Amino acid sequence: MSFPVHRPRRLRRTAALRSLVAETRLHPADLVQPLFVREGLEEPRPIPSMPGQVQHTRESLRKAAAAAAQAGVGGIMIFGVPCAKHPDGRGAWDEEGIAQLALADVVAEVGEATVVIGDINLDEYTDHGHVGLLGPDGDVDNDATVRAYAEVAVAQATAGATMVAPSGMMDGQVAAIRAGLDAAGFERVPILAYAAKYDSAFYGPFRSAVESSLVGTRSTHQQNPANLCEALREVGLDVEEGADLVMVKPAGLYLDVVRRVADAVHVPVAAYQVSGEYAAIEAAAANGWLQRERAIEESLTSIRRAGARIVLTYWATEVAQRLHR
Ligand code: PBG
Repeated sequence: MSFPVHRPRRLRRTAALRSLVAETRLHPADLVQPLFVREGLEEPRPIPSMPGQVQHTRESLRKAAAAAAQAGVGGIMIFGVPCAKHPDGRGAWDEEGIAQLALADVVAEVGEATVVIGDINLDEYTDHGHVGLLGPDGDVDNDATVRAYAEVAVAQATAGATMVAPSGMMDGQVAAIRAGLDAAGFERVPILAYAAKYDSAFYGPFRSAVESSLVGTRSTHQQNPANLCEALREVGLDVEEGADLVMVKPAGLYLDVVRRVADAVHVPVAAYQVSGEYAAIEAAAANGWLQRERAIEESLTSIRRAGARIVLTYWATEVAQRLHR
């Protein structure tokens, strides 16, 4: 009798065997590329905390969107960075606001080749950097904020967004946005709910990318990283309120949450590999401490393996291009 009896290594001997039995594959269509556009820029401006990413001009954004679509990415998420910020974040729903102009540009560029997604939030537009209107106690006023979110949703849909994604973690935001969209004749625009969004230190580089002026925290609305049951509750509520897809964010540190959510709901699940996850790998790779492409691919494969149907990642276009080779 030969020993050992079981030889799992048989299926790992050649690249072709390994590929044949791979349980998870990355595909360009599963990836969503977040892009930043800054009002009033003459040239694209590199984001120091996110090496390789830039604040786009409207013109360079169109090119980046075209490249993403050309590479076959499933979607593009647009973040607008306005010149002027206000206490009430009014630029977020202004017809001439940077996000609306950029969404229209991108839709004109890519048509229906890829899904164009608007992020619904006020944090890039408020001078205090919070995600909504502040109440007398200095905390975000939930109900006033969700009414503003409904206006943002309608402004983005009017600009041509294929889908909208509320990211503020206000109670009832999905229902309010659904009602607002429906009342404006946008009943066919789906909502991708940032359903389980944690109060994470890993959003740091994003906040400099959008020139956030936030002082204080988001811990009265974003979830405590210690909690899993709460994520299931949040996701359940969002689905009940009409979310067409749900998101877990961040991704790589929350794979247990991704798995539990994917097992619990019957809507597509997305996970957002956030700016800090991106920056950490880029920084380690720049130091020669990680093999960059392998680390990127492993991080994305793990998020897919945990159960995310869709992955938002700043590497979407790059990885999609690589997958074609
Ligand atoms: C809110 C928003 C944030 C991110 C996506 N949408 C920042 C926040 O909640 O503070 C973070 C994305 C990232 O870190 O990559 N507009």
